[in-house]
Amino acid sequence: MKNEKPIPQHVAIIMDGNGRWAKQRGKERSEGHIAGVESIRATLRAAQKHGVKYVTFYAFSTENWGRPTAEVDALMELMCYSVINETPELIKQGVRVRTIGDRSRFSEKVQQHLAKIEQETAEGQTLTMILALNYSSRDELRRSFRQLAEAVKQGEIQPEEINEQRISAMLDTAAYPDPDLVIRTSGEQRLSNFLLWQSAYAEFYFPEVHWPDFNEEEFERALEVYAGRDRRFGLVK
Ligand code: IPE
Ligand code: IPE
Ligand code: MG
Repeated sequence: MKNEKPIPQHVAIIMDGNGRWAKQRGKERSEGHIAGVESIRATLRAAQKHGVKYVTFYAFSTENWGRPTAEVDALMELMCYSVINETPELIKQGVRVRTIGDRSRFSEKVQQHLAKIEQETAEGQTLTMILALNYSSRDELRRSFRQLAEAVKQGEIQPEEINEQRISAMLDTAAYPDPDLVIRTSGEQRLSNFLLWQSAYAEFYFPEVHWPDFNEEEFERALEVYAGRDRRFGLVK
């Protein structure tokens, strides 16, 4: 019999618990972040295997700037260098790398690296990996509302022309479908300012494992849970 299991087109992940994972092992928090890179690789492998087309990783929130400078610096370094080192492999696998969030706050060097990686992976056809960097939903909405207000002020659009499509089209995620499934690891059950508008009809899944312990098997478990959900979108079946 044909396997009819619904597969999410877009999975968005709040990678949480790196610090606790490290602490439990008597390590520095940054070691948790380093260990978490392997979980990203495993997730991409599993996503490709099952035909998931978009995976968004919440890597750095606008609120995360408030962490100790050493941790912020370590995260920046890790983000930059792991994506750079990974680029040849990502190209080979057909992964296209994109980002959401306000990149202007990053150093010139980081911004250049990110632009280069996007450009080098632009032809990727199998999967789009979206990194949420200096991202938060309220910040994204704030930026978009300003842009919208400016367009109205310039007479480019009329207030009555503002509809949901136009709002979606102004967001950083304009080019991607809304997430079907949002996963947050480490047992925390909150969004922490992630994709508020976009996840209006997403399914949520909160595995207990910390992010460095998330792997292909955990991703497949998430797909199983998703397949068992009844998405009604406000309608009657
Ligand atoms: C997630 O792990 C990584 C980022 C937020 C960048 P945390 O660093 O939040 O780890 P915990 O939640 O403190 O354990
Ligand atoms: C959310 O995790 C942000 C990222 C995963 C990048 P946090 O650990 O920063 O969120 P809170 O503080 O638990 O809400
Ligand atoms: Mg956390």
